Amino acid sequence: MIYWFSGTGNSLWAAKELANRLGDRLIDIADALSQGNFRHTLTEGESIGWVFPTYSWGPPPVVLDFVKRWHINGYAKGTTYCYMVTTCGDDVGLAVDIFSKALGYIDLVAAFSVQMPNNYILLPGFDTDPATLEHDKLQKATPRIAEIAGMLADKRAVTDVVTGRYKWLKSRVIRPLFVRFMMSDKHFTADASLCNSCGACVAQCPMHNITLATADGTPRWHGNCAMCLGCIHRCPRRAIQYGKITRHKGRYHFTPAKK
Ligand SMILES: Cc1cc2nc3c(=O)[nH]c(=O)nc-3n(C[C@H](O)[C@H](O)[C@H](O)COP(=O)(O)O)c2cc1C
Repeated sequence: MIYWFSGTGNSLWAAKELANRLGDRLIDIADALSQGNFRHTLTEGESIGWVFPTYSWGPPPVVLDFVKRWHINGYAKGTTYCYMVTTCGDDVGLAVDIFSKALGYIDLVAAFSVQMPNNYILLPGFDTDPATLEHDKLQKATPRIAEIAGMLADKRAVTDVVTGRYKWLKSRVIRPLFVRFMMSDKHFTADASLCNSCGACVAQCPMHNITLATADGTPRWHGNCAMCLGCIHRCPRRAIQYGKITRHKGRYHFTPAKK
């Protein structure tokens, strides 16, 4: 089974690719959370996979929240293969250590990172990738996933991630501050003159955190945000902003390559 979480589609693409190549089943973490579906059972010899984006050099808090409540039947220590794959714009810091600790008695046997287009745009200095870099990352992602699928099929015990520089500072100092102060949805706004109430933001929100106001049909955020940025990136009219910082930033979401 492959548990997945994704905001702008990179990790969902990676999870689906792995599931197809390995003949595995997919479990949507956000759905399981909202349905209170925390108890799952492994079939004979089944692996446990986790696929999610890197958020501030660690796993998304929503994923950690799920893991805290999760219970798996049929886990056999020393036998069951458990791995994580995290998509990222650049590097993952100590995400593997953080996730491994969150799993508790479950051994994380393998971990991989996959660089994909960046979707973080809410701080100064952070923007989507230039078109050439975005294209390059997407070109490299498919062979990277194939390589990872090969190692997973062999149940290899390996950690193959780009941790980046200053990983301790990023994951142990900046990350807690980020999670505490930079994950609120209260700065999202929608420009009523651009919004046509299409509902794309509502439909894509994995947390069911957005509704359209009866008064003017524009989105409202209700405080249960995973900071996945799916809403801002998928708004077809660029009606959604985060304070003023995103007005001149790019937008990105994964779209399958045209054949
Ligand atoms: C809140 C947030 C924090 C992020 N932090 C990092 C980071 O620490 N390192 C990194 O390389 N990319 C970071 N990113 C970029 C995403 O990890 C990357 O674009 C990922 O592939 C998005 O996956 P998704 O499309 O499945 O949501 C961050 C994105 C968000 C939304």
